[in-house]
Amino acid sequence: MKKLLLSGVALVAALTVLGSENSPAIVPVPQQVVCHPERSIDLSAATRISVPDADKELEEVAERAAQTFAREYGLAWKVDRKGSDGIQLKLDPTLDKEAYRLEIDPTGVRVQGGSAAGVFYGMQTLRQLIGQYGTSLPEIRIEDAPAFGYRGAMLDCGRHFFPVEEVKAFLDILALHKINRFHWHLTEDQGWRIEIKRYPELTKIGSRRAETVLGRNTEIYDGVPYEGYYTQQEIREVVAYAAERFIEVIPEIEMPGHASAALATYPWLGCTGDGYKVQTRWGVFPEVFCAGKESTFEFLENVLAEVIELFPSKYIHVGGDECPKASWEVCPACQQRIHDEQLKDEHELQSYFILRMEKWLNEHGRNLIGWDEILEGGISQSATIMSWRGSAGGIAAARAGNKVIMTPNTHCYLDYYQTKDPQRLEPWGIGGYIPVSKSYALDPYDQLTEAQRPYILGVQGNTWTEYIGSFAHVQHMALPRLAALAEVGWSYGRQDLADFRRRMEVLRGLYDRQGWYYAPYFFDGTDE
Ligand code: ACM
Ligand code: ZN
Repeated sequence: MKKLLLSGVALVAALTVLGSENSPAIVPVPQQVVCHPERSIDLSAATRISVPDADKELEEVAERAAQTFAREYGLAWKVDRKGSDGIQLKLDPTLDKEAYRLEIDPTGVRVQGGSAAGVFYGMQTLRQLIGQYGTSLPEIRIEDAPAFGYRGAMLDCGRHFFPVEEVKAFLDILALHKINRFHWHLTEDQGWRIEIKRYPELTKIGSRRAETVLGRNTEIYDGVPYEGYYTQQEIREVVAYAAERFIEVIPEIEMPGHASAALATYPWLGCTGDGYKVQTRWGVFPEVFCAGKESTFEFLENVLAEVIELFPSKYIHVGGDECPKASWEVCPACQQRIHDEQLKDEHELQSYFILRMEKWLNEHGRNLIGWDEILEGGISQSATIMSWRGSAGGIAAARAGNKVIMTPNTHCYLDYYQTKDPQRLEPWGIGGYIPVSKSYALDPYDQLTEAQRPYILGVQGNTWTEYIGSFAHVQHMALPRLAALAEVGWSYGRQDLADFRRRMEVLRGLYDRQGWYYAPYFFDGTDE
């Protein structure tokens, strides 16, 4: 009797697991899913991906999906420009731009989007379904749209340099997660990574550091020169590759701080005019752009003029974080500027600096993003804040009516550790502790009223790379936390950690298929 009871309990447990295992596992979780896993639709080897004649954009989405399915699943599905069966891609103008509807039933498979981007996201969902079910797909109807328009990920290519092929692989990761912004951190104290034709020495001198400190700013250096930069041709290639995946690339050109590499190249950009080097250790450095000399602004405007030619993004990020004011305090030109512009102090000088760059960007049809330090000393109504020192800056900015991207270091810093015992379990991180559940718990609307919510554009994960020297390590830090942030950005209001855990077990299979590295801690339960 006892034995029977036990097996009864075991049977119920098995059915529950089976039932949940058989439910669709899509990340980020869609808005509405009606699924009949017991009714399956078999897609044959001869399945076509059909697009309306003459729709070039959808044709490209279809071609890319065919390539992805071939690579991932060995499916030789061809694109059909005239067909009306198989997997049909269509636009539905009644849907929002990024929204899609995916239907699989006995009459076929239909993916409709409010724009080609929506269709692309529908195909990412189909891709995940094939990863889970193979080509015997359940009858299903999905209606889906993102909660936030800005769903971002940042890669710091200043501290460590990642060649174009790795940047593209990073974009591939973003695409699977329906992330639509790539924030490309291109200039740093430790390296200037973007070719500027007017200032060729930036990538001769500024892109190279003599050596790199070992460990956590020990006094020991590796003695090995480190260098790398992206040519303008490569940048165009990355921007195009991203656009094919409906990802906008937002470049960051840091100012007035984190400028050592630029100053090492052209010492006249600094207050003292000499004594600069591309930094070989990590931290915040007092060597910053001189805010007094006109030549600084002329230089930065010339740089940005080339930047906006390369990047069609609405936003240009100018940094603005961690700018020590010591050199401005003793610089005659900076003090003269404070006097002439009737500024109160060096904080207002920083504000003057950013406002001036914003004015230039606006005149050239672009909008400025800056880290939350740009709030100090005052900002214009049109500047967008990236809140990183927690959410406080973002909350204050939203209350003041500025647009905000939430990327607080409490939830979104992918260079932080992922377990409580990093020494034992993890490769290098910068410190801290952000397990997946913490990223997942981010509430971008925390403390905001209904009326203030529209100022939050979205969320972003940041991969700073002081301690991350390889792309394998980048992936280990980004995955699976980026999936958690992608779900906050796309599926806000529907988060359910237990269900996310179940779905991530399936998505993990797709990570494996790609050969992507990811941290195991969330999956094996060693992260909490
Ligand atoms: C930052 O992490 N300094 C923006
Ligand atoms: Zn100065």
